[in-house]
Amino acid sequence: MIRLANVRAGYATPTGFVGAVDGVSLTIGDSEILGIAGESGCGKSTLIKVIYGQLGGALSLRGGTVEATFRDPASGRVTVTPAERLRELWWKQISYIPQGSMSVLNPVARIETQMVDGLPDAARARGRQALRAEIEAFLAEVKLPASVLDAYPHQLSGGMRQRVLVAMAAFFNPRLILADEPTTALDVVVQKHILLLLVAVQRRQRNALVIVSHDLGVHYQITDRLAIAYAGKIVEVGPTRALFERPRHPYTAALIDALPRLGDRTPRQGIEGRPPDLADPPTGCRFAPRCSKAQDVCRRESPDLLDRAPGHAAACHFA
Ligand SMILES: Nc1ncnc2c1ncn2[C@@H]1O[C@H](COP(=O)(O)OP(=O)(O)OP(=O)(O)O)[C@@H](O)[C@H]1O
Ligand code: SF4
Ligand SMILES: [Mg+2]
Repeated sequence: MIRLANVRAGYATPTGFVGAVDGVSLTIGDSEILGIAGESGCGKSTLIKVIYGQLGGALSLRGGTVEATFRDPASGRVTVTPAERLRELWWKQISYIPQGSMSVLNPVARIETQMVDGLPDAARARGRQALRAEIEAFLAEVKLPASVLDAYPHQLSGGMRQRVLVAMAAFFNPRLILADEPTTALDVVVQKHILLLLVAVQRRQRNALVIVSHDLGVHYQITDRLAIAYAGKIVEVGPTRALFERPRHPYTAALIDALPRLGDRTPRQGIEGRPPDLADPPTGCRFAPRCSKAQDVCRRESPDLLDRAPGHAAACHFA
């Protein structure tokens, strides 16, 4: 279980602080599939980095808490790990498939070397041959041929490379897999294979899976719960089907409304305008300039939301 409470995080830049995650509270259940959606630049990848504990460099936590609570299946012992120590769980309890991860693979090393080198020392101590056998058995379960281990990344297709990354992330039976846009840039058929693979792994290992995608269709197909990110905030979170059927936040409703529908040739309107600059976010509701309810319903019923003081965690009256 992961718990985020009022987390604020962002990047120090020469021109000031970019508050990419601003007042986010969220939980991730032990064996659920949580989706995160929202437009480009709304802070999805930053949120994933915070959950992974990949802080440092320009990215820092400025407030709130992040906590991972896992039960060791063997001993039954429960450990609680705070943000600054999440690194200790990498490749043991938590694994991460970063956005644009195709380029994560080292072009001059064979896949086997990369898989083995990524493992913790304790695993490597079992010996190369024993490990190779274990990895081959695991690859067979996720329907990847053992021959990929002898290949260099350039000898594999994009879809194959992404499958290898999923296998690498899942091999150690982690309690949580974080996948940031795992299917973007792949064709639809390959996308489907990768998603089915992620879901198969999640079902088999009963781990938690967080998938970031701007593609709502992906979330509809596979996630249990969906969180909608807008301008550094999570504006709505709930069971995926319910959220599609009864979106509460006007941003969620607009995203769903912009989806093309099978058999309907009417061109769909995107959402006009763009999210605000997170280096200088507006006060009050961040969606107000684009919200169809802002000037009538909202101004009439909850003007305080539109005009609140800086720093408040904007909650839409309707969400
Ligand atoms: N290394 C960085 N230094 C400074 N600002 C950054 C850095 N990385 C991201 N940002 C800024 O933080 C904000 C959130 O970025 P983030 O990558 O988390 O968004 P995102 O929702 O994942 O977008 P996308 O859908 O395009 O991947 C943006 O304003 C972005 O410009
Ligand atoms: S607070 Fe008002 S302006 Fe903001 S999203 Fe809700 S209805 Fe729209
Ligand atoms: Mg991103």
